[in-house]
Amino acid sequence: MLSKKHKAALTLRKNIKGINVRVPTRGKKKTYIYFDNAASTPAVTPVLDELYHYLDWYSGVHRGTGYKSLISSRIYDDAHDDIARFVGADLSRDTVIMVKNTSEAINKLSYRVQLEPEDVVITTDMEHHSNDLPWRTRARAVYAGLNEEGKLDIDNVKQLLKKHYPHTKMLAVCGASNVTGHVNDVHLLAEIAHEHGCHILVDGAQLIPHQRFNMKPHNDPGHIDYLAFSGHKIYSPFGSGVLIGPRATFASGPPEYPGGGTVKLVMQDKIFWADPPDREEAGSPNVIGTYALARTLAYLDKLGMDNLAKYEEELTNYTLDKLQKVRGISIYGSRPRVGVISFNLQDIPHALLGAILCFEAGMGVRTGCFCAQKYVRQLLGMAESYHYPELYDSGRMDKIPGMVRVSLAAYNTRQEVDELIKWLKDIAINPYEYLRRYRFSASQGSYVPIDMQYKLEADKVVNRIM
Ligand SMILES: Cc1ncc(COP(=O)(O)O)c(C=O)c1O
Repeated sequence: MLSKKHKAALTLRKNIKGINVRVPTRGKKKTYIYFDNAASTPAVTPVLDELYHYLDWYSGVHRGTGYKSLISSRIYDDAHDDIARFVGADLSRDTVIMVKNTSEAINKLSYRVQLEPEDVVITTDMEHHSNDLPWRTRARAVYAGLNEEGKLDIDNVKQLLKKHYPHTKMLAVCGASNVTGHVNDVHLLAEIAHEHGCHILVDGAQLIPHQRFNMKPHNDPGHIDYLAFSGHKIYSPFGSGVLIGPRATFASGPPEYPGGGTVKLVMQDKIFWADPPDREEAGSPNVIGTYALARTLAYLDKLGMDNLAKYEEELTNYTLDKLQKVRGISIYGSRPRVGVISFNLQDIPHALLGAILCFEAGMGVRTGCFCAQKYVRQLLGMAESYHYPELYDSGRMDKIPGMVRVSLAAYNTRQEVDELIKWLKDIAINPYEYLRRYRFSASQGSYVPIDMQYKLEADKVVNRIM
């Protein structure tokens, strides 16, 4: 008898689009094993089926008077509410703004909170560039540090909030790291931020796909003021992302992108802006992406986010236990963590190890700095003074110190992990046997097998009809 978590994970796996696709390797074709879920997750077939049916009714939304437009508008608007409910947003006070991804959500927020140059935004040393760079350009970005394990130093957050009181306007922090999988206690951080008169933004790109999350009521000290996340990281790769926050923030002043749909009335000398979210969603919106995301969240709810999270936790611990036994492996970060694990194997260049796993094992992982260069540097113990700009100029991006990242999702299995471990152990025992089969291709910016006539046959595999 399967436990609830195993049942949920198995159902999810059965519904993953493309789960049995086979890919070429140096040997035989192999069933692809995908361990890059932190980048983007595959779609799920029940939602694709729903989308297919909805497309019969698809039409331009808002102000269209035909029946299909009325249906599509209702579907689009309701999807906002469904997304809000998935994360416990308060629909009487919050607005859900559909954007294209987390990066756009945070950029939009950085614009809309109307920062003055002397205002401070506290972010952290463990952020993805998307929750660092937007703040640098709009305010004084100040960085909370980390402890020896690479976890956020909450005392340092408090110190910075005190030091910069009352100028800090936002604490911008990730819910979970895309490098170590470390999870921040964002509700505690919210309490601390609110005690210092400051709001909190949670970059939920790596948290929402892995755990049930609730923004908590507005009168709760641990309430999350702003939340951003991406559809493509939660089984909904149709170009939608989400920014949620108080309607009041977006109800005054011009939007970041003015244009069609953002106004009620346009006079020659005066513009009457629409209410949020319309004011913030310039142009024809991504109806399909928004609907797909709402339906995907409903699907995950049906399987049970708690079931999926428990399964993933078990699989993550299983993976870590096995990885630790691989000779010469360095794993960054510590438990507890969501299923994001970065490591290096002996002194094998990260990009080369990624290529070996691709061309020998038929596996997809990610290598490099994962758009979190500062964090990766700290975890590797690299100084800022290391000759990064020279390496960059030389075009040898592969020489820039980095890591290999395996990111799990609840549809991955122990058998897939065992396969990864088998390959890593074999590479660790006899690295030169593998290394000599590859060369760095400057034109492709990656390692390629010397002996494999390898052509990306994109036209063939996607099965174009015309
Ligand atoms: C923690 C974190 N924040 C933000 C982003 C940016 O997400 P997107 O590429 O969907 O804008 C990512 C993407 O990997 C991420 O992992």
